[in-house]
Order: sequence, then C-alpha cells, then structure tokens
Amino acid sequence: TTPLRLGIAGLGTVGAGVVKIVRQKAALLSERTGRDIQVSAVSARHRDKDRGVSLADYAWEDDPVALATRDDVDVFVELMGGSDGPAKAATTAALEAGKDVVTANKAMLAHHGQALAELAEARGAILRFEAAVAGGIPVIKALTEGLAGNEITRVMGVMNGTCNYILTRMETGGLTYQDAFDEADALGYLEADPELDVGGIDAGHKLSLLSAIAYGTQVNFDAVELEGIGRVSIDDIRQAADMGYKIKLLGVSRMTGRGLEQRMAPCLVPATSPLGRLDGGTNMVVIEGDQVGQIVMRGAGAGEGPTASAVMGDVMDLARGFRISTFGQAASSLKVATPAAAATP
Ligand code: HSE
Repeated sequence: TTPLRLGIAGLGTVGAGVVKIVRQKAALLSERTGRDIQVSAVSARHRDKDRGVSLADYAWEDDPVALATRDDVDVFVELMGGSDGPAKAATTAALEAGKDVVTANKAMLAHHGQALAELAEARGAILRFEAAVAGGIPVIKALTEGLAGNEITRVMGVMNGTCNYILTRMETGGLTYQDAFDEADALGYLEADPELDVGGIDAGHKLSLLSAIAYGTQVNFDAVELEGIGRVSIDDIRQAADMGYKIKLLGVSRMTGRGLEQRMAPCLVPATSPLGRLDGGTNMVVIEGDQVGQIVMRGAGAGEGPTASAVMGDVMDLARGFRISTFGQAASSLKVATPAAAATP
C-alpha cells in the first residue's frame, strides 16, 4: 500500500507532539491503519528552534501555502492557529488543491468553518477537526458516529481549561481573580491573547462548532451569547459554595422551538454534580440524546499529548480511507439555524 504523507504547518506544542507520535509509534500506526504514515514536509515561523524532536528527515517550507500544495503532501495538517492569515490561506489552498485537511484551529472554523467545509465538499476533500474542541476528548467522533442514531437534545460543558483552572484556584486557594489569573499566566496556560480564554471566546468558538455538529446546522459563532469570567468575584464563589454550588464557565447549546440557543457564561452548577466536581485545567462535555440519555466525557482539553492524540485520530481515519467530514454530513446540506435570541418576541 502507498504511505499517507503529511505536511505539517505549525510546530508548537501540538505540532511537535504530532511529529513525535508519527516517529515514535510508526509501527503501531501502520499496524492499525494498514498504511505507513509519514511526514513529507513541515513549516513554522522559526526554523532553528529545539522542539525536542528531529526534523532533519523532512523538507522545510517557509510558506505554509507552498507546504499545503506540495505534490508529496496528501494531508495538510494545520496547527498554526489564528482565525485568518496564514492558517486560513494555507487551509484554503490545500482544499482548493483537493487535499484533505486536519486542523485544531477552532477560531478559524468558528468564523470560516462553513465556507471551508463547502470548499472541501466541492473539491472532494475531507476537513477534520476533532482537536479543535475539548482537546483530547473525542467528542466530535462521539457525535458524528457513535451517537448518529440520536436526536441530540442538549450539549453542554466546560470547554476552556484555563478558565476552569482560574475559577478552581479562586475557590480552593481563596485567590482573587487577578492572583489566579497571574498564576495561570505563570504556568503558561493563557493564550497569547488572554481575552480569548477569560472572555469566553475560545470556549464560545468550541460551543459553536459542537452545536453545528450536534444539530446539523451551519456554524454560527456570532449567535453565541458570551460572557467571560472577568467579573466573577471571590464573594460570588463563596456565596455559591454556601448554597452547595460552584461557578463554572459553562457552555450550553439547545435546539428549542424558537431556534438554536447557544450560551457561554459563568453558571451555578451543583457542587456534587460531575460538572461541579470538575476541578483544575480539565474539560468536560455532557451530551444528551433522545435515545441514549446523558453521556459525560471528561479529559484534558489542551496540551501536547491530548491534542496530538485528537489530531492523530483524524489522520488515522484518513489513512484507513474513512472519508467522513467532521460535520458528519455534507456541508451544503447543513441547515441555517435561527438563533433563539433573535426569535424572542
Ligand atoms: N486555552 C485553551 C484552554 C486551550 O485553556 O482550554 C485549548 O483550546
């Protein structure tokens, strides 16, 4: 059989993690998929940087668009991040050229997911993004495959580990918001633009993607009602605790009679519930389906191993010839969902 050849753009934590898996677990990957998985070429902002893994075997491209369209690249793996700019340009170029794309880029997909998915469909390419939502938790696979026979009634969860860490430290450590924020910063948890985390934007991106997958609708990030954690005080947390609750940055998405409701905001959850017991920088996604009832998935929403794990799951599906898009259906058939807020009289 022919090998599956990857072009990887972005060699930060996640990109380096993917290269390590491909190198260190080559035999396992080949055994499981029936094909060798190889890296042909890589691209990143800085060439000479120690990433803890050798890149000597791979061609180097300074320009991710050139990487994405190379003849020896079958799958373009986009791990640069950023909603526009090089990530979008290279993803578009890869899809235009009919190449499959695996990405972890929630910001790009929240803003351009529909257009990119339609482009993929028009070119016969597959666009996969398990790693974009809740890191290592295979929630997209659960929705598109294992739960495909259900009508999903509600999706909710804690989808930003940094916010959950900050809220947990305020609660267990008695830290002020600012001190907890500084601690998260010192640990390197915060995004380059911290507002993406604490403003609830990153989590809102993820919720908008999950909603689209769960209800077969087009991604509508602009319709997510967003509130971050910046106004949560220690007093709020103490009062909640007195009543048996915790405050979590909770995303909830429901299809209601008056449209699709998507909210990402600090919420009270019972302290003894699975969501209430979710401490630290972890993620949890709760899915409710009409047949299956409630499913709870918990795990690492960020970090090298967990995010690379999700990327590899997508890559290995492609190696197996499993050509289902992340939306689980044709992008052109996704419904336009009326946002519930707009439908309120
Ligand atoms: N900043 C994100 C988080 C990383 O804290 O969950 C993964 O998107």
